[in-house]
This record gives sequence, structure tokens and C-alpha cells, in this order.
Amino acid sequence: MSKSKNIILIGMMGTGKSTVAQMLSQELEYQLIDVDAAVEQEEGCSIPELFTAKGESYFREAESRMLCSVLENDAQVIATGGGVVLRAENCEVMSSNGWVVALTADPAVIVERVSGCDNRPLLVGNAEERIRTIMEERKDAYRFAHYTVDTTALSAAEVTRLILAHY
Ligand code: S3P
Repeated sequence: MSKSKNIILIGMMGTGKSTVAQMLSQELEYQLIDVDAAVEQEEGCSIPELFTAKGESYFREAESRMLCSVLENDAQVIATGGGVVLRAENCEVMSSNGWVVALTADPAVIVERVSGCDNRPLLVGNAEERIRTIMEERKDAYRFAHYTVDTTALSAAEVTRLILAHY
């Protein structure tokens, strides 16, 4: 694979995309892009505020637009939001403009990792139930990844090492 190809991290919330993306970008000296953070910056508010003010479909539009725009460049590590795979066209554009790595984890571990975070508007009510439901709904959507890492029992540094070994 030609080096300088984008590395694109996909997967459920709480699988470690943002932390691992940061580590990968440092190792490779690639630009770090967090699509959620870029949308927040463009919209001038947090993701939960955006969901409340304009709704999920507005967020999905903004997210897809941002994804396409960042994928015009190379040599980046891109952390995406967990729901970016809900649109088939996003999966296509990721697949053809980068090396797509899916991070997975057991639902109980995800719940532990996201507990105490108030920036996940989709986690209303019983968090573990919601995560199991969302995972079930999306389980096929993450399968197009070129490489998958189960992060359940791994540290972010170990996940980073595995990804670099396969890049
Ligand atoms: C979402 C995940 C979030 C964020 C938004 C929606 C999802 O990103 O994009 O709250 O649909 O799974 P993280 O995966 O970084 O938490």
C-alpha cells in the first residue's frame, strides 16, 4: 500500500477511535482530523446542541459533507463519528479514499468507556440497552472495513501498534 494513504477509523462510540487516531497521527506525522470536532467547529456548537437545535438528519448532512471535504486530502488520520456508516455513499467514499479500519468492542466495555460522558445524544435512557440496539442495527454497516481490531482487551497503544503493523 502506498504510504501517505489516509487511515480512516470507523466504529461504535467508545471503541477508542479518537484516542487511537491521535496516537497514529503522532507516529506517522500525519494530520489528525476528527470529523465530529470539525463539524462542531464549523457549526459553532457541540454535537448534542446541534442534535437538539437542528435534529439528527441535519447533523448527518453536515457530517457527510465534512467527510467528503476532508477526503480530498491525503496523509491524514481521520476519526469518524460512529454513525457515519449509516449512509452507503459515505462508505464508498471512505473505501476509495483511504485505508478503513474498524474498531469494535464488547457492549459492556463500551458502556464503561462512555459512562460519565454527556456528549452522546443517542444514548438516552439505559445506556447498555441503547448500545446493544445500535450495535445490532449497524453490525453489517461496519463490515466494509479493510481491517478490523477488537479493542475489548487492548490498550489504545496496543491497538495503535497493531494498526501500524498492518498499514
Ligand atoms: C454518533 C457518534 C458520535 C457522534 C454523534 C453520533 C453515532 O461520535 O458523531 O453523537 O451515531 O454513533 P463518536 O462515535 O465519536 O462518539
